[in-house]
Amino acid sequence: MILTAEAPAARKETMAFIDQQHQLLIDGQWQPAASGKTFEVKNPANEQTLAQVAEGDRADIDLAVKAARRAFESGPWPQMTPSQRGQLIWKLADMLEQNVEEFAEIESLDNGKPKVVAAAADIPLAVDLFRYMAGWTTKLEGNTLPISVPYLPDAEFHSFTLREPVGVVGQIIPWNFPLLMAAWKLGPALATGCTVVLKVAEETPLSALRLGHLIQEAGFPPGVVNIVTGFGETAGAALAAHPDVDKVAFTGSTEVGKLIVKAAGESNLKKVTLELGGKSPNIVLPDADLSAAIPGAANAIFFNHGQCCCAGSRLFVHQSQFDEVVEGVAEQARQINLGPGMDPQCGMGPMVSQIQQERVCGYMDAGLNAGAQAVVGGKRADRDGYFVEPTILVNTQPEMSVIQEEIFGPVVAAVPFDDPEQIVAEANDSIYGLAAAVWTRDISRGHKIAKRLRAGNVWVNCYNIFDAALPFGGYKQSGWGREMGHAALDLYTETKAVTVQL
Ligand code: NAI
Ligand code: MG
Repeated sequence: MILTAEAPAARKETMAFIDQQHQLLIDGQWQPAASGKTFEVKNPANEQTLAQVAEGDRADIDLAVKAARRAFESGPWPQMTPSQRGQLIWKLADMLEQNVEEFAEIESLDNGKPKVVAAAADIPLAVDLFRYMAGWTTKLEGNTLPISVPYLPDAEFHSFTLREPVGVVGQIIPWNFPLLMAAWKLGPALATGCTVVLKVAEETPLSALRLGHLIQEAGFPPGVVNIVTGFGETAGAALAAHPDVDKVAFTGSTEVGKLIVKAAGESNLKKVTLELGGKSPNIVLPDADLSAAIPGAANAIFFNHGQCCCAGSRLFVHQSQFDEVVEGVAEQARQINLGPGMDPQCGMGPMVSQIQQERVCGYMDAGLNAGAQAVVGGKRADRDGYFVEPTILVNTQPEMSVIQEEIFGPVVAAVPFDDPEQIVAEANDSIYGLAAAVWTRDISRGHKIAKRLRAGNVWVNCYNIFDAALPFGGYKQSGWGREMGHAALDLYTETKAVTVQL
């Protein structure tokens, strides 16, 4: 881990956007919060105030839901052909692609991630997701169904299904991939003809607000996408409990996921999809190609500073190679340039917030106090900003919180194993089931283990492979439903069965 120097400034155009007084997007208009309140957004690399943003609350959520309802039921949006809807979404993707640099800078300053990573991964993945979803607008087909109604043996029928948009959707997103999470949510909602109230994370509202400007310029009708910035306990909770929202889609902590389910149940039984935490196992079998598995294991935990729901945070390595793999991953950690994300050499930026830095350090301290050892890292970095050293813990015990709970930071626990037959059971021993990986040269064994792992996403001889066509989501307490792929579209549509008596 190398501490890098101060970073170059962002471009003038980027700062001109960031320096604006940011407002809420409701019914096609930028407007202040009804209360007039604003809140401060920080640059996590230097702890300085980055921007001032409107603090939306219940009253603003209510206005946004009303606008979304109007746009869903009348006006140009429901009149548009699927092809026209697809063209609009595609246009938005083009506009995003034309502004990759600006979005990468916003994302880096707001979230802390390396600008080069945002420009290579976050923004292109968002562009691709919109294009993938644009293509689906014209392919949301129903079925024709031969029916045989037993109590009307002489009647003739023509039955078919229609796929209709679920309606007004509330979407609540986190701060780890601010723009990409907005895209994962907005893409299927817009493709299916829903309208949206998007509540972005209070830590990182800026890229979604910039996207809101592009949505306006692209020509989406007023009220189709409403964006409310504000806090989870107020704006987020009001959206989850709103009686006129048909579905809520949430990404974030499992704890808040449970609150969302409760709010949905107690209000109007709105549909719920959840993408929650993880504690994903990454298994290195004795026959693995270590030249791939070692950098793969480092990427699995250190990508996005470990602030990934699918981070490979439990690294299981066969005893025969344990020291070699741990040392190899430790060496990768030592080579990471830790510094401001705007530095082109940056390999790892700060945690998103002081709270997150403290949470991650709290987990490391708990593990170290209980007898774990840090081969590398183990503490916050000695500099301004919310930096944490990339860390490998060994000598952990299964009951320790560093093994049981999601840390959401660059901290991996490496655990040796004896018997490759037993390791799948240990890997599955978690309340979570979001992702898992296995490294082996034996392809048949890789497939067999992939089948036995209880996780929504399994990687064999790779990690962190995402694509708009691949469904993403969790087993167990990692969530309900899937994002991306055509699986996501099912969760934004209702199926209507229509029967005509001939
Ligand atoms: P969080 O779950 O509190 O926040 C995520 C989103 O939910 C934000 O937009 C927030 O404003 C909103 N929210 C918070 N409380 C809410 C409520 N009562 N009702 C409605 N919306 C609410 O996550 P937080 O506090 O930022 O991070 C805590 C932990 O959650 C992390 O350490 C990590 O373990 C996990 N997490 C998981 C993520 C994932 O991708 N699955 C993303 C972010 C956090
Ligand atoms: Mg929270």
